Order: sequence, then structure tokens, then C-alpha cells
Amino acid sequence: MRFHPVVSVLVAISAPLATAQLNSYAKKAGLKYFGAATDSPGQRERAGLEAAYPQYDAIIRGTSEFGQTTPTNGQKWLFTEPERGVFNFTEGDIVASRAAENGQLLRCHTLVWHSQLAPWVEEGYWTPEELRAIIVEHITQVMGHYKGQCYAWDVVNEALNEDGTYRESVFYNVLGEDFVKLAFSTAAEIDPSAKLYYNDYNLESPGAKSEGAIRIVKLLKEAEIRIDGVGMQAHLTASGAPTLDQQIAVMESYGALGVEIALTELDVRVEMPTNETSMAWQAEVYKNSVSACVQVSACVGVTIWDFYDPFSWVPAVFPGEGAALLWFDDFTKHPAYYAAIEAMTKKTGNYTCRSKRRVTENKRSRRLY
Ligand code: G3I
Repeated sequence: MRFHPVVSVLVAISAPLATAQLNSYAKKAGLKYFGAATDSPGQRERAGLEAAYPQYDAIIRGTSEFGQTTPTNGQKWLFTEPERGVFNFTEGDIVASRAAENGQLLRCHTLVWHSQLAPWVEEGYWTPEELRAIIVEHITQVMGHYKGQCYAWDVVNEALNEDGTYRESVFYNVLGEDFVKLAFSTAAEIDPSAKLYYNDYNLESPGAKSEGAIRIVKLLKEAEIRIDGVGMQAHLTASGAPTLDQQIAVMESYGALGVEIALTELDVRVEMPTNETSMAWQAEVYKNSVSACVQVSACVGVTIWDFYDPFSWVPAVFPGEGAALLWFDDFTKHPAYYAAIEAMTKKTGNYTCRSKRRVTENKRSRRLY
């Protein structure tokens, strides 16, 4: 039987919250949603886990738990336009139609990204004119297909290096930063109702990379091209995450530009196997991230990058790490689940009212090295 370590403070709060449900608490705290990304079943196949799918589906469909979802993979270029001019929405549609059936908001992900890009785009030798036409056609077809269904689109994903400069990619190499302008101006035309986001990781504390994101927002605003949001992916580690105050500060700096913010891919990985300490650290990190979003009025919602540990991307990319989500393999909940609820519960949060945010120094916020 799995032992679930729970730190004393979480034991204290978890009993009354036994039926706690994330989206219900998020809405009470003034957020639009608490959501979880999910994949179409074929994409998330894991040998031996077939028996778990009904329970998984029941949880992801529950709107008091999750009021929003994002297709983890199905809307990416690799799947939507695997060959030039050949569009395929099968995988993305599975998640989009489930969101519609369940009455969940859909965050759509993603239009222009250097990764999971169809090889034909990456390997081509394009003139600027050709690549512009390719980007416009891709956005037109993909956004057009999902028009009216997406609360938000991650229009450009991960365009920045850690030092805030642009990442080398086929898009940047051929078009320079014009590719960002082109992507957003095209997106703005195709679906006026979708919020248009720049989305990246390591945007969760002030620094060179967050300055890069700010530069992108300003670039677009100065060109009078619509951008509505900055997505902070928030792929964090339990042992070294930004503090609450750092997260609030950086969210405020994006919000000051007149855009909204969301935590778009939150997960907090730990070294395996888990133990009481790592679960306690993880709980603290989840609490700080969710709390920052609750405390900053520009932050509209939190999405975790799937909810069930066996479907997390982490172990494949960081061998020896895992348990990054809120449900263990046996569908029991991490202590961090209750910590996230705590962050959204006025009684236990260190804030008074979302609309009148007054950040008091949070002594519990610290770097967890
Ligand atoms: O397409 C095959 C499928 O046919 C097969 O059944 C399945 C079996 O596991 O593998 C599938 O390919 C995998 C795909 O995910 C779908 O599961 C790829 O090998 C795998 O590399 C791919 O990983 C995805 C990763 O992006 C790629 O960069 C993860 O699932 C996905 O969670 C992750 O998400 C990204 C965000 O889009 C952007 N931010 C970072 C985040 C984490 O890397």
C-alpha cells in the first residue's frame, strides 16, 4: 500500500477539505478556472494502465474539479499540419469536443512553436515570403477550425532563450522577430473572440527571460497588434521554485502592461521515490504558485499539465524525477492538492480580497533549495 506523507499543517487542513474540488475553490477565490491539460487517449497510452482510464475520465470531466482543459499535444503543428496543406484535427478535436460536452473552457495550444513542429517546416529552405505564407496558412486553418471554441490560444510558444534573447528556430532564423508579429496579427484576424497569449517556461520570477516576455508584449502593443495574455507555464521543481513574492512581482509586471496572466502548465517535479519532505516542499510550491495567481488580479486561472502522475511528461524527460501532478498512480491525492485548495481559501490564504490585493510579506515564502 502506498504511504502518503502529509505534513502536519496539511493534515490540519485536509480533513475539512476532504471533498475539496479545485475549480469550485478557484471560482470562489475570483479566478475564472482551475483546469488540467489532457491528451487524446491514443496519445496518452501507457501499457498496463487501461484499467485506470474510466476513473481518469470521470475525474477530468468533473467541472467542480476542472473548469478548463488544454489538449496536451493534439493541436500542435506536428499533428495538425503534418504535411504542407494537409490538415488533421482528429487528436485536437477529441479534447475540444470533450471540453464542450463537459462545459469546460478550452485553452488552445499552440500555433507557432519550434518543437513538435512538422519536419517539412523545420527542414525546408524558405524565403521570408514563403515562410510568411506558411505561417499565415497554418494559423488560418487551425484557428479557423477551432474558431469560437477557444477561450485562449497560445499563439507563440517558447520563443525565448533563458537570457531573454530570441531562440534560434526556423521562424526566427528566416523572419527575425517579425514572425511574432505575423503570428499575432494573423491570429487576431482569424478568431477575434480568443484571447491571444505568449506562452513560455521560466517566466515565473523577474529576470532576463521575463524581461524578454515583457519586450514581446511591448513589441506587439507598440505595433498595435493584439496580445491579451502572458502564459507562465510553471514547470517547477519542488527543491528550487520561485518564491511567492517573486511570482507576485513578475505577474504584476506583466499585468502592468495591460495583459492578463495565467499559469498554463503548472507541475512540480520531485526526485523519485517521493518522501515526506519532497511532498511537503511540493505542497509549498503549489501553494505559492496558486496563491500568487489568486492575489494578482490580472491572473485569470491555473492549469496543471495533466493531473494524473502516470500521464505526466516529466519522467520521460527528467529520468529519476516525477510525481509532479496532484493525483498519484492509485488516484489518491497529493498533499499539494490540499495546499492548492488552501491557497484558494480565504480563511487560510494570506490575503483579504482579490479585488483589493494587499500583499503582506509572506514569511513562509522562501526558496526551497
Ligand atoms: O505520437 C506518439 C503516439 O503515437 C504514441 O502512442 C505515444 C506513446 O507514448 O507517443 C506519442 O508521442 C509522444 C507525444 O508526447 C504524445 O504522447 C512523444 O513521444 C513525446 O515526446 C511527446 O511529449 C510531449 C512534449 O510536450 C513534447 O515536447 C508531452 O506529451 C507534452 O506534455 C509536452 O508539453 C510541453 C508543452 O507543449 C509546451 N511546454 C512544455 C511542455 C512539457 O514539455
